[in-house]
Amino acid sequence: MTTVGELRRKTLEALMKPSYSISRKDMVLLNDNANLFGVNPAVLEVAESFDFARLWAYPSENSDALRDRIASEYGVASDEVIVGNGSDEILDITSKCFINLAKVCEKQLERDFSLNVESLLEERAKITAICQPNNPTAVLFESKSVKRVLREAYGLVLVDEAYAEYSGSNLLQEVMDSEHALDIRTFSKAHGMAGLRVGFAIARKDVIDELRSVRTPFGLNSFAEAAAIRALDNRSWISETVARTKEERSYLARRLTALGFKVYPSDCNFLLCKAPVDGPALVSALRGEGVAIRDCNSYPLLENHVRITIGPRSMLEVLLDKIEHLFSVGSR
Ligand SMILES: Cc1ncc(COP(=O)(O)O)c(C=O)c1O
Repeated sequence: MTTVGELRRKTLEALMKPSYSISRKDMVLLNDNANLFGVNPAVLEVAESFDFARLWAYPSENSDALRDRIASEYGVASDEVIVGNGSDEILDITSKCFINLAKVCEKQLERDFSLNVESLLEERAKITAICQPNNPTAVLFESKSVKRVLREAYGLVLVDEAYAEYSGSNLLQEVMDSEHALDIRTFSKAHGMAGLRVGFAIARKDVIDELRSVRTPFGLNSFAEAAAIRALDNRSWISETVARTKEERSYLARRLTALGFKVYPSDCNFLLCKAPVDGPALVSALRGEGVAIRDCNSYPLLENHVRITIGPRSMLEVLLDKIEHLFSVGSR
């Protein structure tokens, strides 16, 4: 009897990803870089007045109202914006649209986590994807490297700026100056709306038109669209949550350094650190204690490294207490 695995398209194998599923109930989730300071209050305000009785109706096919609001926020035209069910959907439709799924090439960073621009350009890939700042290394690449890729790459350059609110960086102008590039953003991080799944991309109209041709209609639900529109008006909350994140990030970096971790600089809402003990064993022991952090041990250059999302002090203290306890037990 043929198994479903045997029926699966072989070309998909390059895109198959590890499962991130963990039991979420009662866990302190410092593993997925959501905004642990909470949801943007604009979402709760929208919930109070939203006409839930109209949910029998489909939303607008391409989320026009949200695209208009994003366009005015970023100073572009509405037809230069596409929205998706999380920025993951934008990544998904971009690959559907432009690549044959046969070959995904992960380029290794230099030892100092910088981009090897020559080797990226040499690949002549149909899509070159760069996270700025990068996940999981947490820092910005030199902007001149990214700009060179934007100018010289053979194919589409996808710049994922999911953490832009934390880093203060912005490559939108360079993306719009380039003939085939895409600037991807999300409401899942600084906006505190990961559960609503809203992401978007800005690019020249001809790039957006290509993506729209393969996107499923009605991709974003009506409530998520209304909430995202209102969230964009609540800039002061974003500044506040980013400031709190930075404050707690410095605190956690100090405490982890004192515990023997090598803590790297960060432009994001997470820290990358090298554990002074076996990384996977630490991640698994913490999980047993109800605290989830991301194990980066299997990534190139990141043996025994872990990634920790920044949250309010109370959550960080739970993590630090558990680590101190595990280290004290381990040293007995
Ligand atoms: C660089 C980067 N891009 C995109 C995403 C996914 O964002 P979304 O929730 O909008 O799908 C993440 C999530 O961790 C991320 O780190």
